Amino acid sequence: MKIAVFADVHSNLDALETVLDHIDRWRPDRVLCAGDIINRGPNPRACTERVVRRAMAEDWGMICGNHERYVLKYGKGNLPDHGPEFEIIRHAKWTYDQLAGQTGQAGQADRTGQAGPDSPDRMDSAGCPDSPDSPDRMDSADCPDSPDSPDSPDGLVERLEALPFQWSMTDEAGNEFRMVHASMLGDRKGIFPDDTEAALREKIAPAPKVLVVGHTHRPLIRTVDDALVVNVGAVGAPFDRDPRAAYAQMTFESGAWKAEIIRLEYDRERAIAHFYESGYLEDSGDFARLILAEFREARSLIPGWYRDYAEQVMGGDLPLKASVDRYLDDCGIDG
Ligand SMILES: [Fe+2]
Ligand SMILES: [Fe+2]
Repeated sequence: MKIAVFADVHSNLDALETVLDHIDRWRPDRVLCAGDIINRGPNPRACTERVVRRAMAEDWGMICGNHERYVLKYGKGNLPDHGPEFEIIRHAKWTYDQLAGQTGQAGQADRTGQAGPDSPDRMDSAGCPDSPDSPDRMDSADCPDSPDSPDSPDGLVERLEALPFQWSMTDEAGNEFRMVHASMLGDRKGIFPDDTEAALREKIAPAPKVLVVGHTHRPLIRTVDDALVVNVGAVGAPFDRDPRAAYAQMTFESGAWKAEIIRLEYDRERAIAHFYESGYLEDSGDFARLILAEFREARSLIPGWYRDYAEQVMGGDLPLKASVDRYLDDCGIDG
């Protein structure tokens, strides 16, 4: 049996198409998506359509990432319409508007911008708005399309709202193969390559035979006790300094699972161009410059901005633009 697992597309259509093409040629028995299809990138609608349409047609397994949760939450309101908090999370609202069909047309390049509240890192910044609240549903009376269709605005929002925390199956040997977005501790408590065995044990409990995750954007293959733990890395925004798209090929043969992380080159200049051409950067404000810098550098930057500047910005002591300029300068990055 062969299972392909991908995660953390983050609205990067060029990387997604490259990964899906590679998966198709590998011909797996099943495809799994471990969340964070959207947010922090310029093509949320097209990426969600691609994944949801195929998931429905081919019985893919899908779960919710923390970024789906953010976008659905902020898209329905729950945020001010001006001020520092608005400036920091407006990119998430932009993403929601794309999904809900409130700007542009279905299937077209997205046109608007936003910024992400949390980060896939160890830090749970106090400045990162995060809540398990589930968003209100869209009023389907506004939409003439059937909500069963992933092409309809209502369909996309509802499909994301319905995604579960975890997905499991029983393999040919009668053992559990499980997928969650970050870890069993929650959708922001990720698994890192340098986690201790004790930490890893805690994050996978109750331990299945195989646990596949995403979220940290750092691929790894480890065993702890009798469990195989695989972080499949990120399709759209790797943070391990390797900018190539990542996904995992899981194979069950001779009574055991083995894993391989696949890395794929794709046209990153084209992906960067989409940040500009879609209107994402223009409409999202200065926070989106951090997101683009993370993409260019293939490393995590936003947690450091929260650590060093969020309090000053949220308190009105420093404009967001100045904080981003200073932070990028601190990091030695031309912004
Ligand atoms: Fe992510
Ligand atoms: Fe995540």
